Amino acid sequence: MAVSGTTSGPELLLELDRASVEPLHRQLADGLRTAIRTGRLTPQSRMPSTRVLAADLGVSRRLVVDAYSQLVAEGFLSSKHGSGTRVATVEAASAPQYAEATRRYDVDFLPGSPDLSSFPRTAWLRALRTGLAEIGSDAFGYVEPQGLPAARVAIADYLRRTRGVQADAQHIVLCSGATQAIALLGRALQGSELPIAMEDPGFWLHRMVLRHNGIEPVAVPVDEDGLDIVALTDSGAQTVLTTPAHQSPTGVVLSAARRTALVEWARAGHLVIEDDYDAEYRYDRAPVGALQGIAPDRVIYVGSTSKTLAPGLRIGWMVLPPHLVGTIRLSKGLADTGSSVMDQIAFAALLTTGGYDRHLRQMRRRYLSRRNALLAALARHLPQATVLGAAAGVHLTVRFPDGYPIADMVRRAAAMRVHVEPLAPCYADPAAAPPGLLLGYANLTETQIDAGVRVLARAAR
Ligand SMILES: Cc1ncc(COP(=O)(O)O)c(C=O)c1O
Repeated sequence: MAVSGTTSGPELLLELDRASVEPLHRQLADGLRTAIRTGRLTPQSRMPSTRVLAADLGVSRRLVVDAYSQLVAEGFLSSKHGSGTRVATVEAASAPQYAEATRRYDVDFLPGSPDLSSFPRTAWLRALRTGLAEIGSDAFGYVEPQGLPAARVAIADYLRRTRGVQADAQHIVLCSGATQAIALLGRALQGSELPIAMEDPGFWLHRMVLRHNGIEPVAVPVDEDGLDIVALTDSGAQTVLTTPAHQSPTGVVLSAARRTALVEWARAGHLVIEDDYDAEYRYDRAPVGALQGIAPDRVIYVGSTSKTLAPGLRIGWMVLPPHLVGTIRLSKGLADTGSSVMDQIAFAALLTTGGYDRHLRQMRRRYLSRRNALLAALARHLPQATVLGAAAGVHLTVRFPDGYPIADMVRRAAAMRVHVEPLAPCYADPAAAPPGLLLGYANLTETQIDAGVRVLARAAR
């Protein structure tokens, strides 16, 4: 134990256990994180210099520098040239969930996350300031649960421009991510006699959300051309939840022939819920427009900022056929009386000032490099894996030969502090799923990606 009582920073009570298997730099980062989280270190207070703290603790300065850098990256500390390192403001420091989750692994291939450290903090603050200066005070009351007009207009404009969506601001309902859209739609469609279909494999969370809302979705298979429309027709379903632009989780794109067939199916009196979850990221091929643009009366378009800005924002939207707007608006109002107006104000300004487009362009380049690093590492260290869905999105799916012991591999990798998710939970019947993994790459550096795949190769042996 050591007490740092220097004049250049607060007194710090930190315990380092030299007998522990936990490396000292991790113990130090954990200790500082806990001190910040529990309020022992208050926001904006100055940290001791790395030299002083290293001397107090009897450790190398490098070790303290690494621990500080880690906490700066996590948002617990902020570092400014000339004024040293300080405890970050409350907002940044109160992100315990994420910090807790990542701390357990050196490399976390969690699928579906964008690069969290690249959240455009400055642009967001600027957008919020711009939006607040322009908005009337009425916006701070109990407003229309559908969302602020300014936000709906900005989102409609963006979707028309980038996704070919026939978006009218009056038909948009803002919601808490795509997940709330699925919940509200599930609730609204619950009474129907006819079943709701979902892709198999599909996003496990959305299957759970439908089940939670009293719907047991009919599983419709997916092959290399995407959703099987013949099987969909045979299922007798009235509605289907699908991911045509980048199938979740396989990453295949719905083929042109299947698109036509799905539109025909929709026009024959059915409903398509189009989850456009990864549409912003395409690497090796031209973007595919949204299905909604072809059949706006039969397609519910769903999108969110979870892959473009951050899942923690919980900003999402639906573009609805006119006949559903009233029902879903009411559902949203009864669920939570509407989403946070502050986020809507900031997001609308980010869209209209071009900040969102700029951020996406930057992220696209970064994720392309990370995807390429993952493909290269897999080819080098794990050649037995077959890669699917690399052309778009922020994750890859890898398949292994039949009978491959995936669960063992996931467990062994976790013991070596690398987290990977198996493909099986995405299947309606996980026990019958082919062996495979989902590898998210957007939230990892190229060095981490290579190190992580090396560990997976060791776990595979
Ligand atoms: C298929 C699919 N749709 C949508 C989302 C985004 O959900 P939300 O907007 O609720 O964060 C995800 C996130 O992982 C996803 O995998």
